[in-house]
Amino acid sequence: MAATPNDDRERVREASPIEEVIGKYVDLPQRGRVWKGLCPFHDDGRPSMDVDPERNTFKCWSCNEGGDVFSFIQKFEKVDFREALTILADRANIELRPQFQDPQIQIQRDEDLVFLDRTATWFTQQLKTAEGRPALEYLKQRGFSDSCIRRFRIGYAPPGWNSLEGSIRQHVDNPKDTIQRAVELGLLKTSAEVKTYDAFRDRIIFPIIRPGKGQYRESGEVIAFGGRHLGHPEAVSQGAANPPKYINSPESRVYSKGNLLYGFQQGQEEIRRRRHVVVCEGYTDVMMAHQHGVSNVVGVLGTALTTKSVQFISRAAQCVDLLFDGDSAGRRAAAKSCEHFLGTDVEVKVVLLEEGTDPCDLLASEGGKDRFQTLLKTGTASLNFLISEILSLHGFSLGDAQPEVVSKTRRELSERVLMPLSKKGQVLLESGVREVARLTGWSESSILMDFQVDRKVQLERDSSRNKYRGTPSDSPSDFPDRPDHTPYFEQNGAPLGTSSFEDPNATVAVIDESVSDLTLEPDSITSELIPFRSVDPAVIAEYAMTEAAILKTIIRDESYMRPMLRLAPVERWTSPLHRELGLLFQNKGKVPELLEIEDPDLKSLLLDLWSRNTRDDEFLDQDQKINFASRTLAEYLMTALERKKDDFMRNDEKSALVTNVNECINMLNNDKFSFSNPSQADEIINRFELDHH
Ligand code: UTP
Ligand code: MN
Repeated sequence: MAATPNDDRERVREASPIEEVIGKYVDLPQRGRVWKGLCPFHDDGRPSMDVDPERNTFKCWSCNEGGDVFSFIQKFEKVDFREALTILADRANIELRPQFQDPQIQIQRDEDLVFLDRTATWFTQQLKTAEGRPALEYLKQRGFSDSCIRRFRIGYAPPGWNSLEGSIRQHVDNPKDTIQRAVELGLLKTSAEVKTYDAFRDRIIFPIIRPGKGQYRESGEVIAFGGRHLGHPEAVSQGAANPPKYINSPESRVYSKGNLLYGFQQGQEEIRRRRHVVVCEGYTDVMMAHQHGVSNVVGVLGTALTTKSVQFISRAAQCVDLLFDGDSAGRRAAAKSCEHFLGTDVEVKVVLLEEGTDPCDLLASEGGKDRFQTLLKTGTASLNFLISEILSLHGFSLGDAQPEVVSKTRRELSERVLMPLSKKGQVLLESGVREVARLTGWSESSILMDFQVDRKVQLERDSSRNKYRGTPSDSPSDFPDRPDHTPYFEQNGAPLGTSSFEDPNATVAVIDESVSDLTLEPDSITSELIPFRSVDPAVIAEYAMTEAAILKTIIRDESYMRPMLRLAPVERWTSPLHRELGLLFQNKGKVPELLEIEDPDLKSLLLDLWSRNTRDDEFLDQDQKINFASRTLAEYLMTALERKKDDFMRNDEKSALVTNVNECINMLNNDKFSFSNPSQADEIINRFELDHH
């Protein structure tokens, strides 16, 4: 009878006792009928996760996470159901029904793997021959143990041009096909004169192995090779004068470099257990670390980590140390690798090696393991590292004011750091801005402002004008307001479209999406909306900031919505998203429930503002929290009153009015003051006509 997908699922479930599976990830002592452990899905202080083998379920009483063995793996490894099924099937050594696999491709793949595995074995045998003795001695002299050499299946390619080829011809039933296969997989090369010859000659062979299934479950699948010449180039018995230190298999139908990490097969258990990976550059570094019991070390294949390998690492680990050479190539590779981690929740640190420090030799030296561990502790957080690298790339140093340096640095920081972070949300963007500010000495608001301009230009480039909304990177990038910022209505006194609009020195062309006609004084609009305008970006940024602050205040206490919006009418807001959310608040007369909002952008903006309120709360004591909205409104009122006072004095109004305004300001200015109810604010607005802009 043919198996159904459900059979697979149930077979795997049966072979995956939930307490055993989860017990691999967390300590799980038995407590009566259930097993108890620290819940991995929240910051658990005491064991609040129950695992119930009878029901085959887990449940956290604290964070409410729960489900069966598949959902545990899905959640923990951040994979979909199919992948979770595969992980558990591998664990239980169950062959799943192949999913819509072309049988021809499957057969070819199987044969490739058999051939590569045999070839790896053949190389290991050559290491034990007389010809291989210098290679073995070299490995010994570098400090490698027999068991390490075995574990990594290290071998030797003899010096002849046809050693491997000869062996294939001798031992294989249909040599023609196999030789063709060897060519396709990069073990033999072809040339016009000699037809085929060995790609690896007189080299120590490092098989590249990835975790495998079925018969390769224990050993992993060999999919490629790296080959190192022995010692120094001049000691090499190769034809070429300056042979490369390593040659590697080309990418092939079974091997794509970017997806693989050297040593992951051997280290995966330790990595999953510790949720920590150390990434090195060299094959030998990985081997020597494993030999010293540090088996969560892997090697990059190629110069830097790729998006793929980073995804892979983020599933397996929570912390990553990148151990790279301190030379310019190493720094570049480290920075590139950091970029891929931006915005993931993996904690990444970079350790740069001093010139002449080789992790392998360091580990092999006296007290090497301790020295290695100490070295790892010196890492720099990835965001700091990446920003610092960009700064030094442009020769920027703190306090530097050379305009070209500053502008180039800013642009690159926007592009490589802030842009990717902003795509992951406001909170991450803010953390990026904060770090840039810390390392450059620039103010946070100016960094953000520049970034917004860059992004607008980029957005305009990326998409047609009308698609302005709806791209993921399009949430407004305002910045948490500081107490000293200038409130909205004061800026209304210097409307966009007059001074800044026509400022001949405003050089940055900004797409005018965010400065719609609503924000402009009517007489400054010539006829139709002009697509590009020079607008002082500072004005845009400041407005967006205040708008966010107003929304945040209303979210805190919606009873202040009416006076707030009277002081700063929504129709005049500059950021389209802010304006839309403000209008929604206004139309509903309250802060809507999330469910009531259909537009995903508005929804995420609301969530974002919410979480920023929560974060602000961390810095406030109880009284401050209660009074926060009231204080904010009072400050806005005071600024409006100050402006009014100026008006009165300029127009020679009666001094009694000025005195009244002053009294009111004094009342509001008292820290102890809070509104007894919102209509008290309305009264002030009415009395001094503060909403007549
Ligand atoms: P290293 O030069 O640091 O070599 O290159 P290593 O692995 O530490 O070897 P030892 O310690 O000198 O014996 C780091 C990695 O870069 C790749 C290899 O993967 C190597 O392990 N590489 C290096 C090449 O692919 N080709 C080269 O010519 C050099
Ligand atoms: Mn090395």
